[in-house]
Amino acid sequence: MVDIGFIGALEAEVSELINALSNKKEEKVGGITFYTGSIFGKKIAVARCGVGKVFAAMCAQAMIVKYSPKLIVNTGVAGSLSKELKVFDMLICRRACQYDMDTSATGDPIGLISGINRVYFESCNAAVECILNSVSDIGISVKVGTVATGDRFVASPEMKKYIKDNFDAMACEMEGGAVAQVAYVNNTDFLIIRAISDSADDSADMDYMTFLPIAAANSSKLCFKLIENYNC
Ligand code: ADE
Repeated sequence: MVDIGFIGALEAEVSELINALSNKKEEKVGGITFYTGSIFGKKIAVARCGVGKVFAAMCAQAMIVKYSPKLIVNTGVAGSLSKELKVFDMLICRRACQYDMDTSATGDPIGLISGINRVYFESCNAAVECILNSVSDIGISVKVGTVATGDRFVASPEMKKYIKDNFDAMACEMEGGAVAQVAYVNNTDFLIIRAISDSADDSADMDYMTFLPIAAANSSKLCFKLIENYNC
């Protein structure tokens, strides 16, 4: 069993965590490489899942079955949907949804995940509070709000508005809502930590490529704060 399991889609989103592991071990489960070891005396697992909801869900399920993390954390970058979130700012997600889940033609609310009958998954409150109490000294602006997940890189004002208007979300990305759903059905606490790399508009692709490394490093900084301070 590990204390905290971290999942990021890209190498840049997990490399600092993997490099910090002491007594590092490497193991392949279901095609995904998991790294385990300790940081600040806590037992940690880290994996790079790849981009999108399917890879994220596979990785979260494998991590839970193999390592039973007390808390599962999705870390990485996101597109901003809010004037309050600029490039390099952080969003700690109070809740996550999947904006591309849509059975509204059958009368359901947009975003409803049938079977479990919910649109939003709530993050672990203790983990949210822990981060908020640990980041006052790191010089990064940190907000709390909703993240919206879908299998699409959002790069247009129209799609931005659709997600914002329908889900009251502050940022969009491609994995968090899937990790959240898997955590929910496995009765496991989760948290999503995202740094803004772009504004999900016409310049999103260029900004993303330019700002990804620093934004991903900001997200890792908060992960280290969580590891240091979270009472597992
Ligand atoms: N991750 C970072 N920026 C994103 C965007 N604009 N859309 C989806 N995922 C993202």
